[in-house]
Amino acid sequence: MKLKAILLTLALATVSFAKPVARQSTSFVEVDGQSFTLDGQPYTVFGSNSYWVGLTGLTTDEMDVAFNDIANAGGTTVRTWGFNEVTSASSDYYQLWNGSTPTINYGSTGLGNFDNVVAAAKANNIRLIVTLTNNWSDYGGMDVYVNQILGEGQPHDYFYSNPDVIAAFQNYVKVWVERYVEEPTIFGWELANEPRCTGSTSSTSGTCTTTTITDWVKTMSGYIKSLDSNHLVGLGDEGWFNLPNSTDFACDGSQGIDFDANLAIDTIDFGTFHLYPYSWGKETPSAMVWGQEWIENHCNSQATFNKPVLMEEFGVLADQNQITTYENWYSTVVDSRLSGVLIWQAGSNLTSGPTPNDGFTIYPDTPVYYLEERISAQLRARDFERQFV
Ligand SMILES: *[C@@H]1O[C@H](CO)[C@@H](O)[C@H](O)[C@H]1NC(C)=O
Ligand SMILES: *[C@@H]1O[C@H](CO)[C@@H](O)[C@H](O)[C@H]1NC(C)=O
Ligand SMILES: *[C@@H]1O[C@H](CO)[C@@H](O)[C@H](O)[C@H]1NC(C)=O
Ligand SMILES: *[C@@H]1O[C@H](CO)[C@@H](O)[C@H](O)[C@H]1NC(C)=O
Repeated sequence: MKLKAILLTLALATVSFAKPVARQSTSFVEVDGQSFTLDGQPYTVFGSNSYWVGLTGLTTDEMDVAFNDIANAGGTTVRTWGFNEVTSASSDYYQLWNGSTPTINYGSTGLGNFDNVVAAAKANNIRLIVTLTNNWSDYGGMDVYVNQILGEGQPHDYFYSNPDVIAAFQNYVKVWVERYVEEPTIFGWELANEPRCTGSTSSTSGTCTTTTITDWVKTMSGYIKSLDSNHLVGLGDEGWFNLPNSTDFACDGSQGIDFDANLAIDTIDFGTFHLYPYSWGKETPSAMVWGQEWIENHCNSQATFNKPVLMEEFGVLADQNQITTYENWYSTVVDSRLSGVLIWQAGSNLTSGPTPNDGFTIYPDTPVYYLEERISAQLRARDFERQFV
């Protein structure tokens, strides 16, 4: 105990947590119990979402600014979209559908462009969580597969159960995974953004349950692992629970997600959840307190399954007690020992103008940006201490 304490004191004396310490390394991020590691040392997962970095026609210089802004706030990890399904060629897209036939865009507006995203991330010591489709209709998503293959208006949840649709999604995923299998800048793959039984179309089969999506998660995560043993795999869900006798839509399994059942899957390396109390009708009596409990409940699952869990999206608007709420949630993450946290979403003031602002965007030199700098240092200090305990 004493030796450890002395070592810790020495280590803390010589290491500055003030600046980003994401290390240049050609190794892949790994999982050790509830922690992430790189070259056997703690890897702190702190950062932002930037769905737009590869989808809004940015130059490579602009991508560099975007990642540099995130790194300067202490970010090590960025979550971004690895999908855009279109039925007619647009600016940046990855898959073009003609009837039921998809064609991958390998060119400079497709995967060639994503190569630039990866290079810009790498140059800024950032690692990428790449999400491979969307529950929502933004940038195409699941409903495009269903509509193109099975016909317009077919149930959203056939995405998880129809063999032809699953095969088409696997073909798409295979292209990404094989292209970047040796690329350590990829932190990991995520199956989908916010999968649910219901999608942007109201069409559902009526037979989708948590088992439907859990079975799909097993199939898809196992498929990725069969192609790529280098990278971590997560789901990308909002973290809904499926608790007996619950009458709360967040915990009664009604969304098609059973957080604990999905976390238990062998080929899922880490859990994910999101936090939007105002969108979810959880603002009364206190969005902040509801969010704190949501974080703590997911932390309990993290401990139960001894796997890392990330709060990989969260947001309240500037006029919703934002700074106080974010301070509280970030502190809850640090104190509860949740494995990591990514805010929704990053922003940059580029020479071509500001990046997209959906009301949640955090631009450099703003109060939340400064809060991120402070919290990232606390989180790194926490993770660094943990290896001596
Ligand atoms: C779409 O597919 C049809 C039938 O296979 C073909 O005739 C048509 O030329 C294709 N359209 C494009 C734009 O490739
Ligand atoms: C999923 O998408 C559907 C439609 O695309 C939408 O109605 C639903 O709210 C989405 N769910 C989430 C969590 O975004
Ligand atoms: C759920 O309700 C059933 C029937 O009322 C009861 O037998 C069971 O103990 C309850 N389970 C829990 C976990 O509360
Ligand atoms: C970036 O833009 C935001 C909002 O437009 C502004 O508040 C902030 O000061 C800008 N930051 C820099 C570094 O120019």
